[in-house]
Amino acid sequence: MFHSIRKPMLERMQFLEKLDQQDRADGTTRMSRLRQIPPETGQFLALMLAEAPAGEVIEIGTSAGYSTLWLALACETHQRNLTTYEVLPEKITLARETFSLAEVELTVTLVQGDACQYLSKMDNIAFCFLDAEKEVYQECYETVLPKLVKGGLLIADNAINHQATLQPMLDMALADERVDAMILPVGKGELVCLKN
Ligand SMILES: C[S@@+](CC[C@H](N)C(=O)[O-])C[C@H]1O[C@@H](n2cnc3c(N)ncnc32)[C@H](O)[C@@H]1O
Repeated sequence: MFHSIRKPMLERMQFLEKLDQQDRADGTTRMSRLRQIPPETGQFLALMLAEAPAGEVIEIGTSAGYSTLWLALACETHQRNLTTYEVLPEKITLARETFSLAEVELTVTLVQGDACQYLSKMDNIAFCFLDAEKEVYQECYETVLPKLVKGGLLIADNAINHQATLQPMLDMALADERVDAMILPVGKGELVCLKN
């Protein structure tokens, strides 16, 4: 996968990496920043998704679609699709641009709105990447977990850099007998939960 990223996808990834760096350096306000994962987390997600069982692939928190492109890379390689949820209209505009320029519109469905309102209607989830406001992590975890297929993965970002805020949710996941879970020091810290 990593040695054959299509040119339009690679160019958009590189453009968003620069934009994200610029955001962090120039004092852009928190809600306007892209707050995207670093490339190593993208590679990690693509590797994990490449081994996920059959079922739905979802992402909660699209921003400009950078992490979505890494997920799309794994989806393209394995002929599957993904749905990503974003609540802010200005991020939706950027994400649409990303998916058009990177030519992943047939692979990615972008849904505008609060993911929590859609999750309860979903089923048969094979892979979920959770990267939204930290306040919704616990609700998303509790809603997605029963819908994960056996061998399915829920991966949550910011498990180390926002550990204090996420501690109750992290403790719950690590003690949850429905999954085998651990926190990996990849990027900002990834909580990885494998459904038993
Ligand atoms: C950390 S950023 C996501 C970064 C993105 N995953 C990436 O790495 O490129 C979090 C995003 O989640 C969105 N968000 C927050 N709560 C949400 C919710 N309940 N449903 C959908 N999107 C949400 C925010 O608007 C923000 O754009």
